[in-house]
Amino acid sequence: MAVGSGSEGVVAVDPPVVAFAGLLRQLRVHAGLSQEELAEAAGVGARTVSDLERGVALTARKDTARLLADALNLSGTARASFEAVARGRAAPGASLPLDGGVAGAGGTLNNPFTYGNPISDPRRFFGRAREVEQIFGRLRNEEFESSSVVGDRRIGKTSLLNYLADPRVRAAHGLGPERYNFVYVDLQMVDKVMGPEQLWRRLLVLMRQQCADDGITGILAALERRERLDTFDLDELFQEVDDRGQHVVFLLDEFEHVTGNVNFGPDFYYGFRSMMIHHKVALVTSSRLELIQLCHSETVKSSPFFNIFANINLRMFSDADCQVMISRSLSGTTVQFSERDMEHLLDLAGLHPYFLQAASCMLYESHRMGLGEAARKVFLAEHFRGEAMPHFVDYWDNSGVYEKIVLTAAALLERTAEPLRAFSLKDLNGLFSRAEPSVERLEKRGLLMSRDGRYRLFSSVLGPWVLAQFTAEFSEEQSYHEWLAANGEPVERITGKEGGLLREILPRIGARHRQLIITWANDPQGLAALSSLLTNVLA
Ligand SMILES: Nc1ncnc2c1ncn2[C@@H]1O[C@H](COP(=O)(O)OP(=O)(O)OP(=O)(O)O)[C@@H](O)[C@H]1O
Ligand SMILES: [Mg+2]
Repeated sequence: MAVGSGSEGVVAVDPPVVAFAGLLRQLRVHAGLSQEELAEAAGVGARTVSDLERGVALTARKDTARLLADALNLSGTARASFEAVARGRAAPGASLPLDGGVAGAGGTLNNPFTYGNPISDPRRFFGRAREVEQIFGRLRNEEFESSSVVGDRRIGKTSLLNYLADPRVRAAHGLGPERYNFVYVDLQMVDKVMGPEQLWRRLLVLMRQQCADDGITGILAALERRERLDTFDLDELFQEVDDRGQHVVFLLDEFEHVTGNVNFGPDFYYGFRSMMIHHKVALVTSSRLELIQLCHSETVKSSPFFNIFANINLRMFSDADCQVMISRSLSGTTVQFSERDMEHLLDLAGLHPYFLQAASCMLYESHRMGLGEAARKVFLAEHFRGEAMPHFVDYWDNSGVYEKIVLTAAALLERTAEPLRAFSLKDLNGLFSRAEPSVERLEKRGLLMSRDGRYRLFSSVLGPWVLAQFTAEFSEEQSYHEWLAANGEPVERITGKEGGLLREILPRIGARHRQLIITWANDPQGLAALSSLLTNVLA
C-alpha cells in the first residue's frame, strides 16, 4: 500500500507537552482509580496527581514517578517506560505496552501502534473526521446541542471522546478552553450504590479541576463542601456559568452504566434535561447501544431527555483512514509494510480500528525481529488469533439469536467462497430467510463488511472461530439424552425431512448452541443451512 500523508481528522499539534498527563490519566482510569484514590495509594498529594494530569506539571520527580508506578502496579518494561515518560526522557509518543500482546512480551518502546488503551494523543488519532465535525458542529450551534456516540466494543468511543476533549483539538474547531469547559468522566465507576447526587458531585469535582475561571472554581469548591446538593444549587451554578460567558460539555463515557442503573430514575433525567435547556450545558455520551435501548425501565425510556441527542454511529474505518493510520504511524520508523503484509493485515483485521492497531503492532514487531515475509505471516496469524478470541467471545455473547444465525451462515458461506470469502445477500437469504435486519445490525456493529453488494465477515479468523464453537466444549457438557429429556418438545415438533436432519445434527452440537439450531430449523431455509452445517463442519 502506498505511503501517504493525508491529514483528515487530524489536527496538527505541537510536540507532546502533555504526553505524561494523558498517559497517567489513561493508566489511572485503566486501574479504575479516581485521582484522589491514586494519590492516596501512592502516598502523594491529590494536587500532584491533578497537576500532572492537567499538564500543569509537565514531568514528575523521580520518587513521585516511582510511587505512582507502584500504586499503578506497573512492572518490567511498562514500568521502565512509565518512569521514562514521567521524567520527560522517553521518545515523544512512545507507546506503553499495557495489556499483554506482543508489545507487552517483547517490551518495545518504539512500536508506533497502540491497542492496549484508548488513544489519548491526538497525533495518534486517525479518521472520524465526519463524526468529529458533526459533534463540534452541534456544539457551535446557538442551541449548544448534545450528541450520543454509539459503537460496539473497541470501535473507538473513548478514543473519540479523548480527542474531542483535547484542548488543542477543540480550539482548532472554535471551542477553545477559554470559554468551553470539557469535562470527561468514565462512568464505569458508577456502581450499584451510587446515585444522582454522587454523580453530580463527581462531575463538579472534575469540572473544577479543569476550569480556568476562578469565579466558577470558587463556587464549585463551596458546593463540594455542602452536605446536600439539590437541583436549585445546580441551577444557580450553571446560571453563574452562563453569566460569565462560559459553556460546559460533559463527556460521559459508557453512559449505559447510568441509564441501566435503577438509582437513576425519571427525576434525574428531567433535572439534567432542564439544566441543558436553560443553560449552556451539553452532553456527549458514549454507549455500546443506542441510549434508548439501554434504559432500565419504560418510564425512563420515555423520558424526553433522550430526544435531545443526535446519534453518531461509530463504524469501521474507511480505506483512506486505514492507509493514513498505517503510513503516518510508520513514518519516522525504519519499518515498511510490504504489499503482502498489507493484504494479510487487512484480511485479519478488516477496517476495524482496534484490530488494525493490534495486527499492525504485531506486524511491526515481526519486522523488528527480522523475520522474512512468510515467517511474518505465520507470526501475525498466531498472535492475532490469541488477541482476537476474547473479543469474538464478547461479540458472540452480545448477539441475538438471529444475529448468531447470520454470523454462522456467513461463516458457512465464506468457507465455500474461499479465497475471496465474498457472498451476496441472496446467498445469505438462501440459508436464513430473516437475515436482512440482522445483516444491517451486524454491519453497524462492524462485524460484517460490504463492498459493491458483496459481504464478508470483517476478519478471516472470525468465521472459523464461529464454526468451531458448535463443537467446542462439547465433551464437558450434559449428555445429549439428558438435554433432550429437558428440552425435547421443540425438537419433536419438527417433523419430516427437517426433523430427520435436525436429529442427526443436534447430538453433534454443544448444548449452548442447540437452541439456535432449532430456531434455524424452523426457518423456511433451515434445511439448506443444516445440510450445509452437516457437510461443512460436522463431517
Ligand atoms: N480513531 C482512532 N485512531 C487510531 N486508533 C484507534 C482509533 N479508534 C480506536 N482505535 C484503536 O482501537 C482501540 C480501542 O479504542 P477505544 O478504547 O477508544 O474503544 P472503545 O470503543 O472505547 O472500547 P470499549 O468498548 O472497550 O470501551 C484503541 O486502543 C486503538 O488501538
Ligand atoms: Mg471505551
